[in-house]
Amino acid sequence: MSVPTLTLNNGVDIPAIGFGVYQAAPEETTAAVETALATGYRHVDTAAAYGNEREVGEAVRRSGLDRAEVFLQTKVWISDYGYDATLRAFDKSAGKLGADRIDLLILHQALPGEFHLTIAAYRALERLLADGRVRAIGVSNFMPDHLARLLAETGVVPAVNQIEVHPYFRQSDVLAFDSGHGVLDQAWSPIGGITFYRDGGHGSTLEDPRILGIARAHGRTPAQVMLRWHLQQGRQVIPKSVTPARIAENFDVFDFELGAEELAAIDALDTGVRGGPEPEAVTREAFGMDIPEA
Ligand SMILES: NC(=O)c1ccc[n+]([C@@H]2O[C@H](COP(=O)([O-])OP(=O)(O)OC[C@H]3O[C@@H](n4cnc5c(N)ncnc54)[C@H](OP(=O)(O)O)[C@@H]3O)[C@@H](O)[C@H]2O)c1
Repeated sequence: MSVPTLTLNNGVDIPAIGFGVYQAAPEETTAAVETALATGYRHVDTAAAYGNEREVGEAVRRSGLDRAEVFLQTKVWISDYGYDATLRAFDKSAGKLGADRIDLLILHQALPGEFHLTIAAYRALERLLADGRVRAIGVSNFMPDHLARLLAETGVVPAVNQIEVHPYFRQSDVLAFDSGHGVLDQAWSPIGGITFYRDGGHGSTLEDPRILGIARAHGRTPAQVMLRWHLQQGRQVIPKSVTPARIAENFDVFDFELGAEELAAIDALDTGVRGGPEPEAVTREAFGMDIPEA
């Protein structure tokens, strides 16, 4: 099956579903990405900070697919922010991926306390875009205030903002800001992966009674219901799995529809509690790490 696509604000098409590889250990990443590509996924989302770009590139080569058929996305880590450092970060990622060109390169986080470095990093992305080294550029974990500052100081509107979105944390304010500025939302932890380890009132989204009820009504799984919720609300999704049956299950979401009441019922599960780091609190001191050369 060919994957439905969404069109980014610069006219580049991106598959509506991609394959995430955060916390896929390097030794299991190649097999997982090969399985995903054989299943029909044509977009892989990795990051310099995940330590598995090399294995993603290896899977693309082993798949036998033309490089042009696979949409490769990666992220620059905060330790490599700054104009020259970010240009070098492209070389590191491209070298590890074994790709001359990266389809979508994004800043992994804003550095709110050193926003001048975030701006300089983004200007490097603009340079790479102008030079044809990347087909689109964007950001991740940018809150409306970060995006407003970026839009005021740079020339290219980010194609995407990759943010935490799942039924327990919808970030409606960020979604509204992004769509108002032509920025596509990519939902990370789309089936609530980050909630699986959470203590307290809300555990895993996979066990939520409301989601289970909707899943039963459609003869589907909770993961498939959550992925439909995103897709029908216009978000791109990047579920991660290293389990072949789940890789297939997560891709099999294009032949059923949720009703408006079901979408609203999932919206209503929002707890307002973030699973990932607070974007405003990200600093190089707390989160910096060395990104090795290719
Ligand atoms: N930009 C950022 O800051 C950021 C942060 C986090 C994630 N991301 C991106 O978003 C991607 C997805 O996020 P995520 O990995 O946190 O969460 P996720 O995709 O919502 O969930 C992944 C977890 O769910 C399990 N799983 C997958 N499919 C399943 C299914 N059908 N049924 C039951 N369990 C299932 C996986 O286990 P197995 O693998 O063991 O099957 C894994 O533990 C990442 O891989 C990464 O590319 C970006």
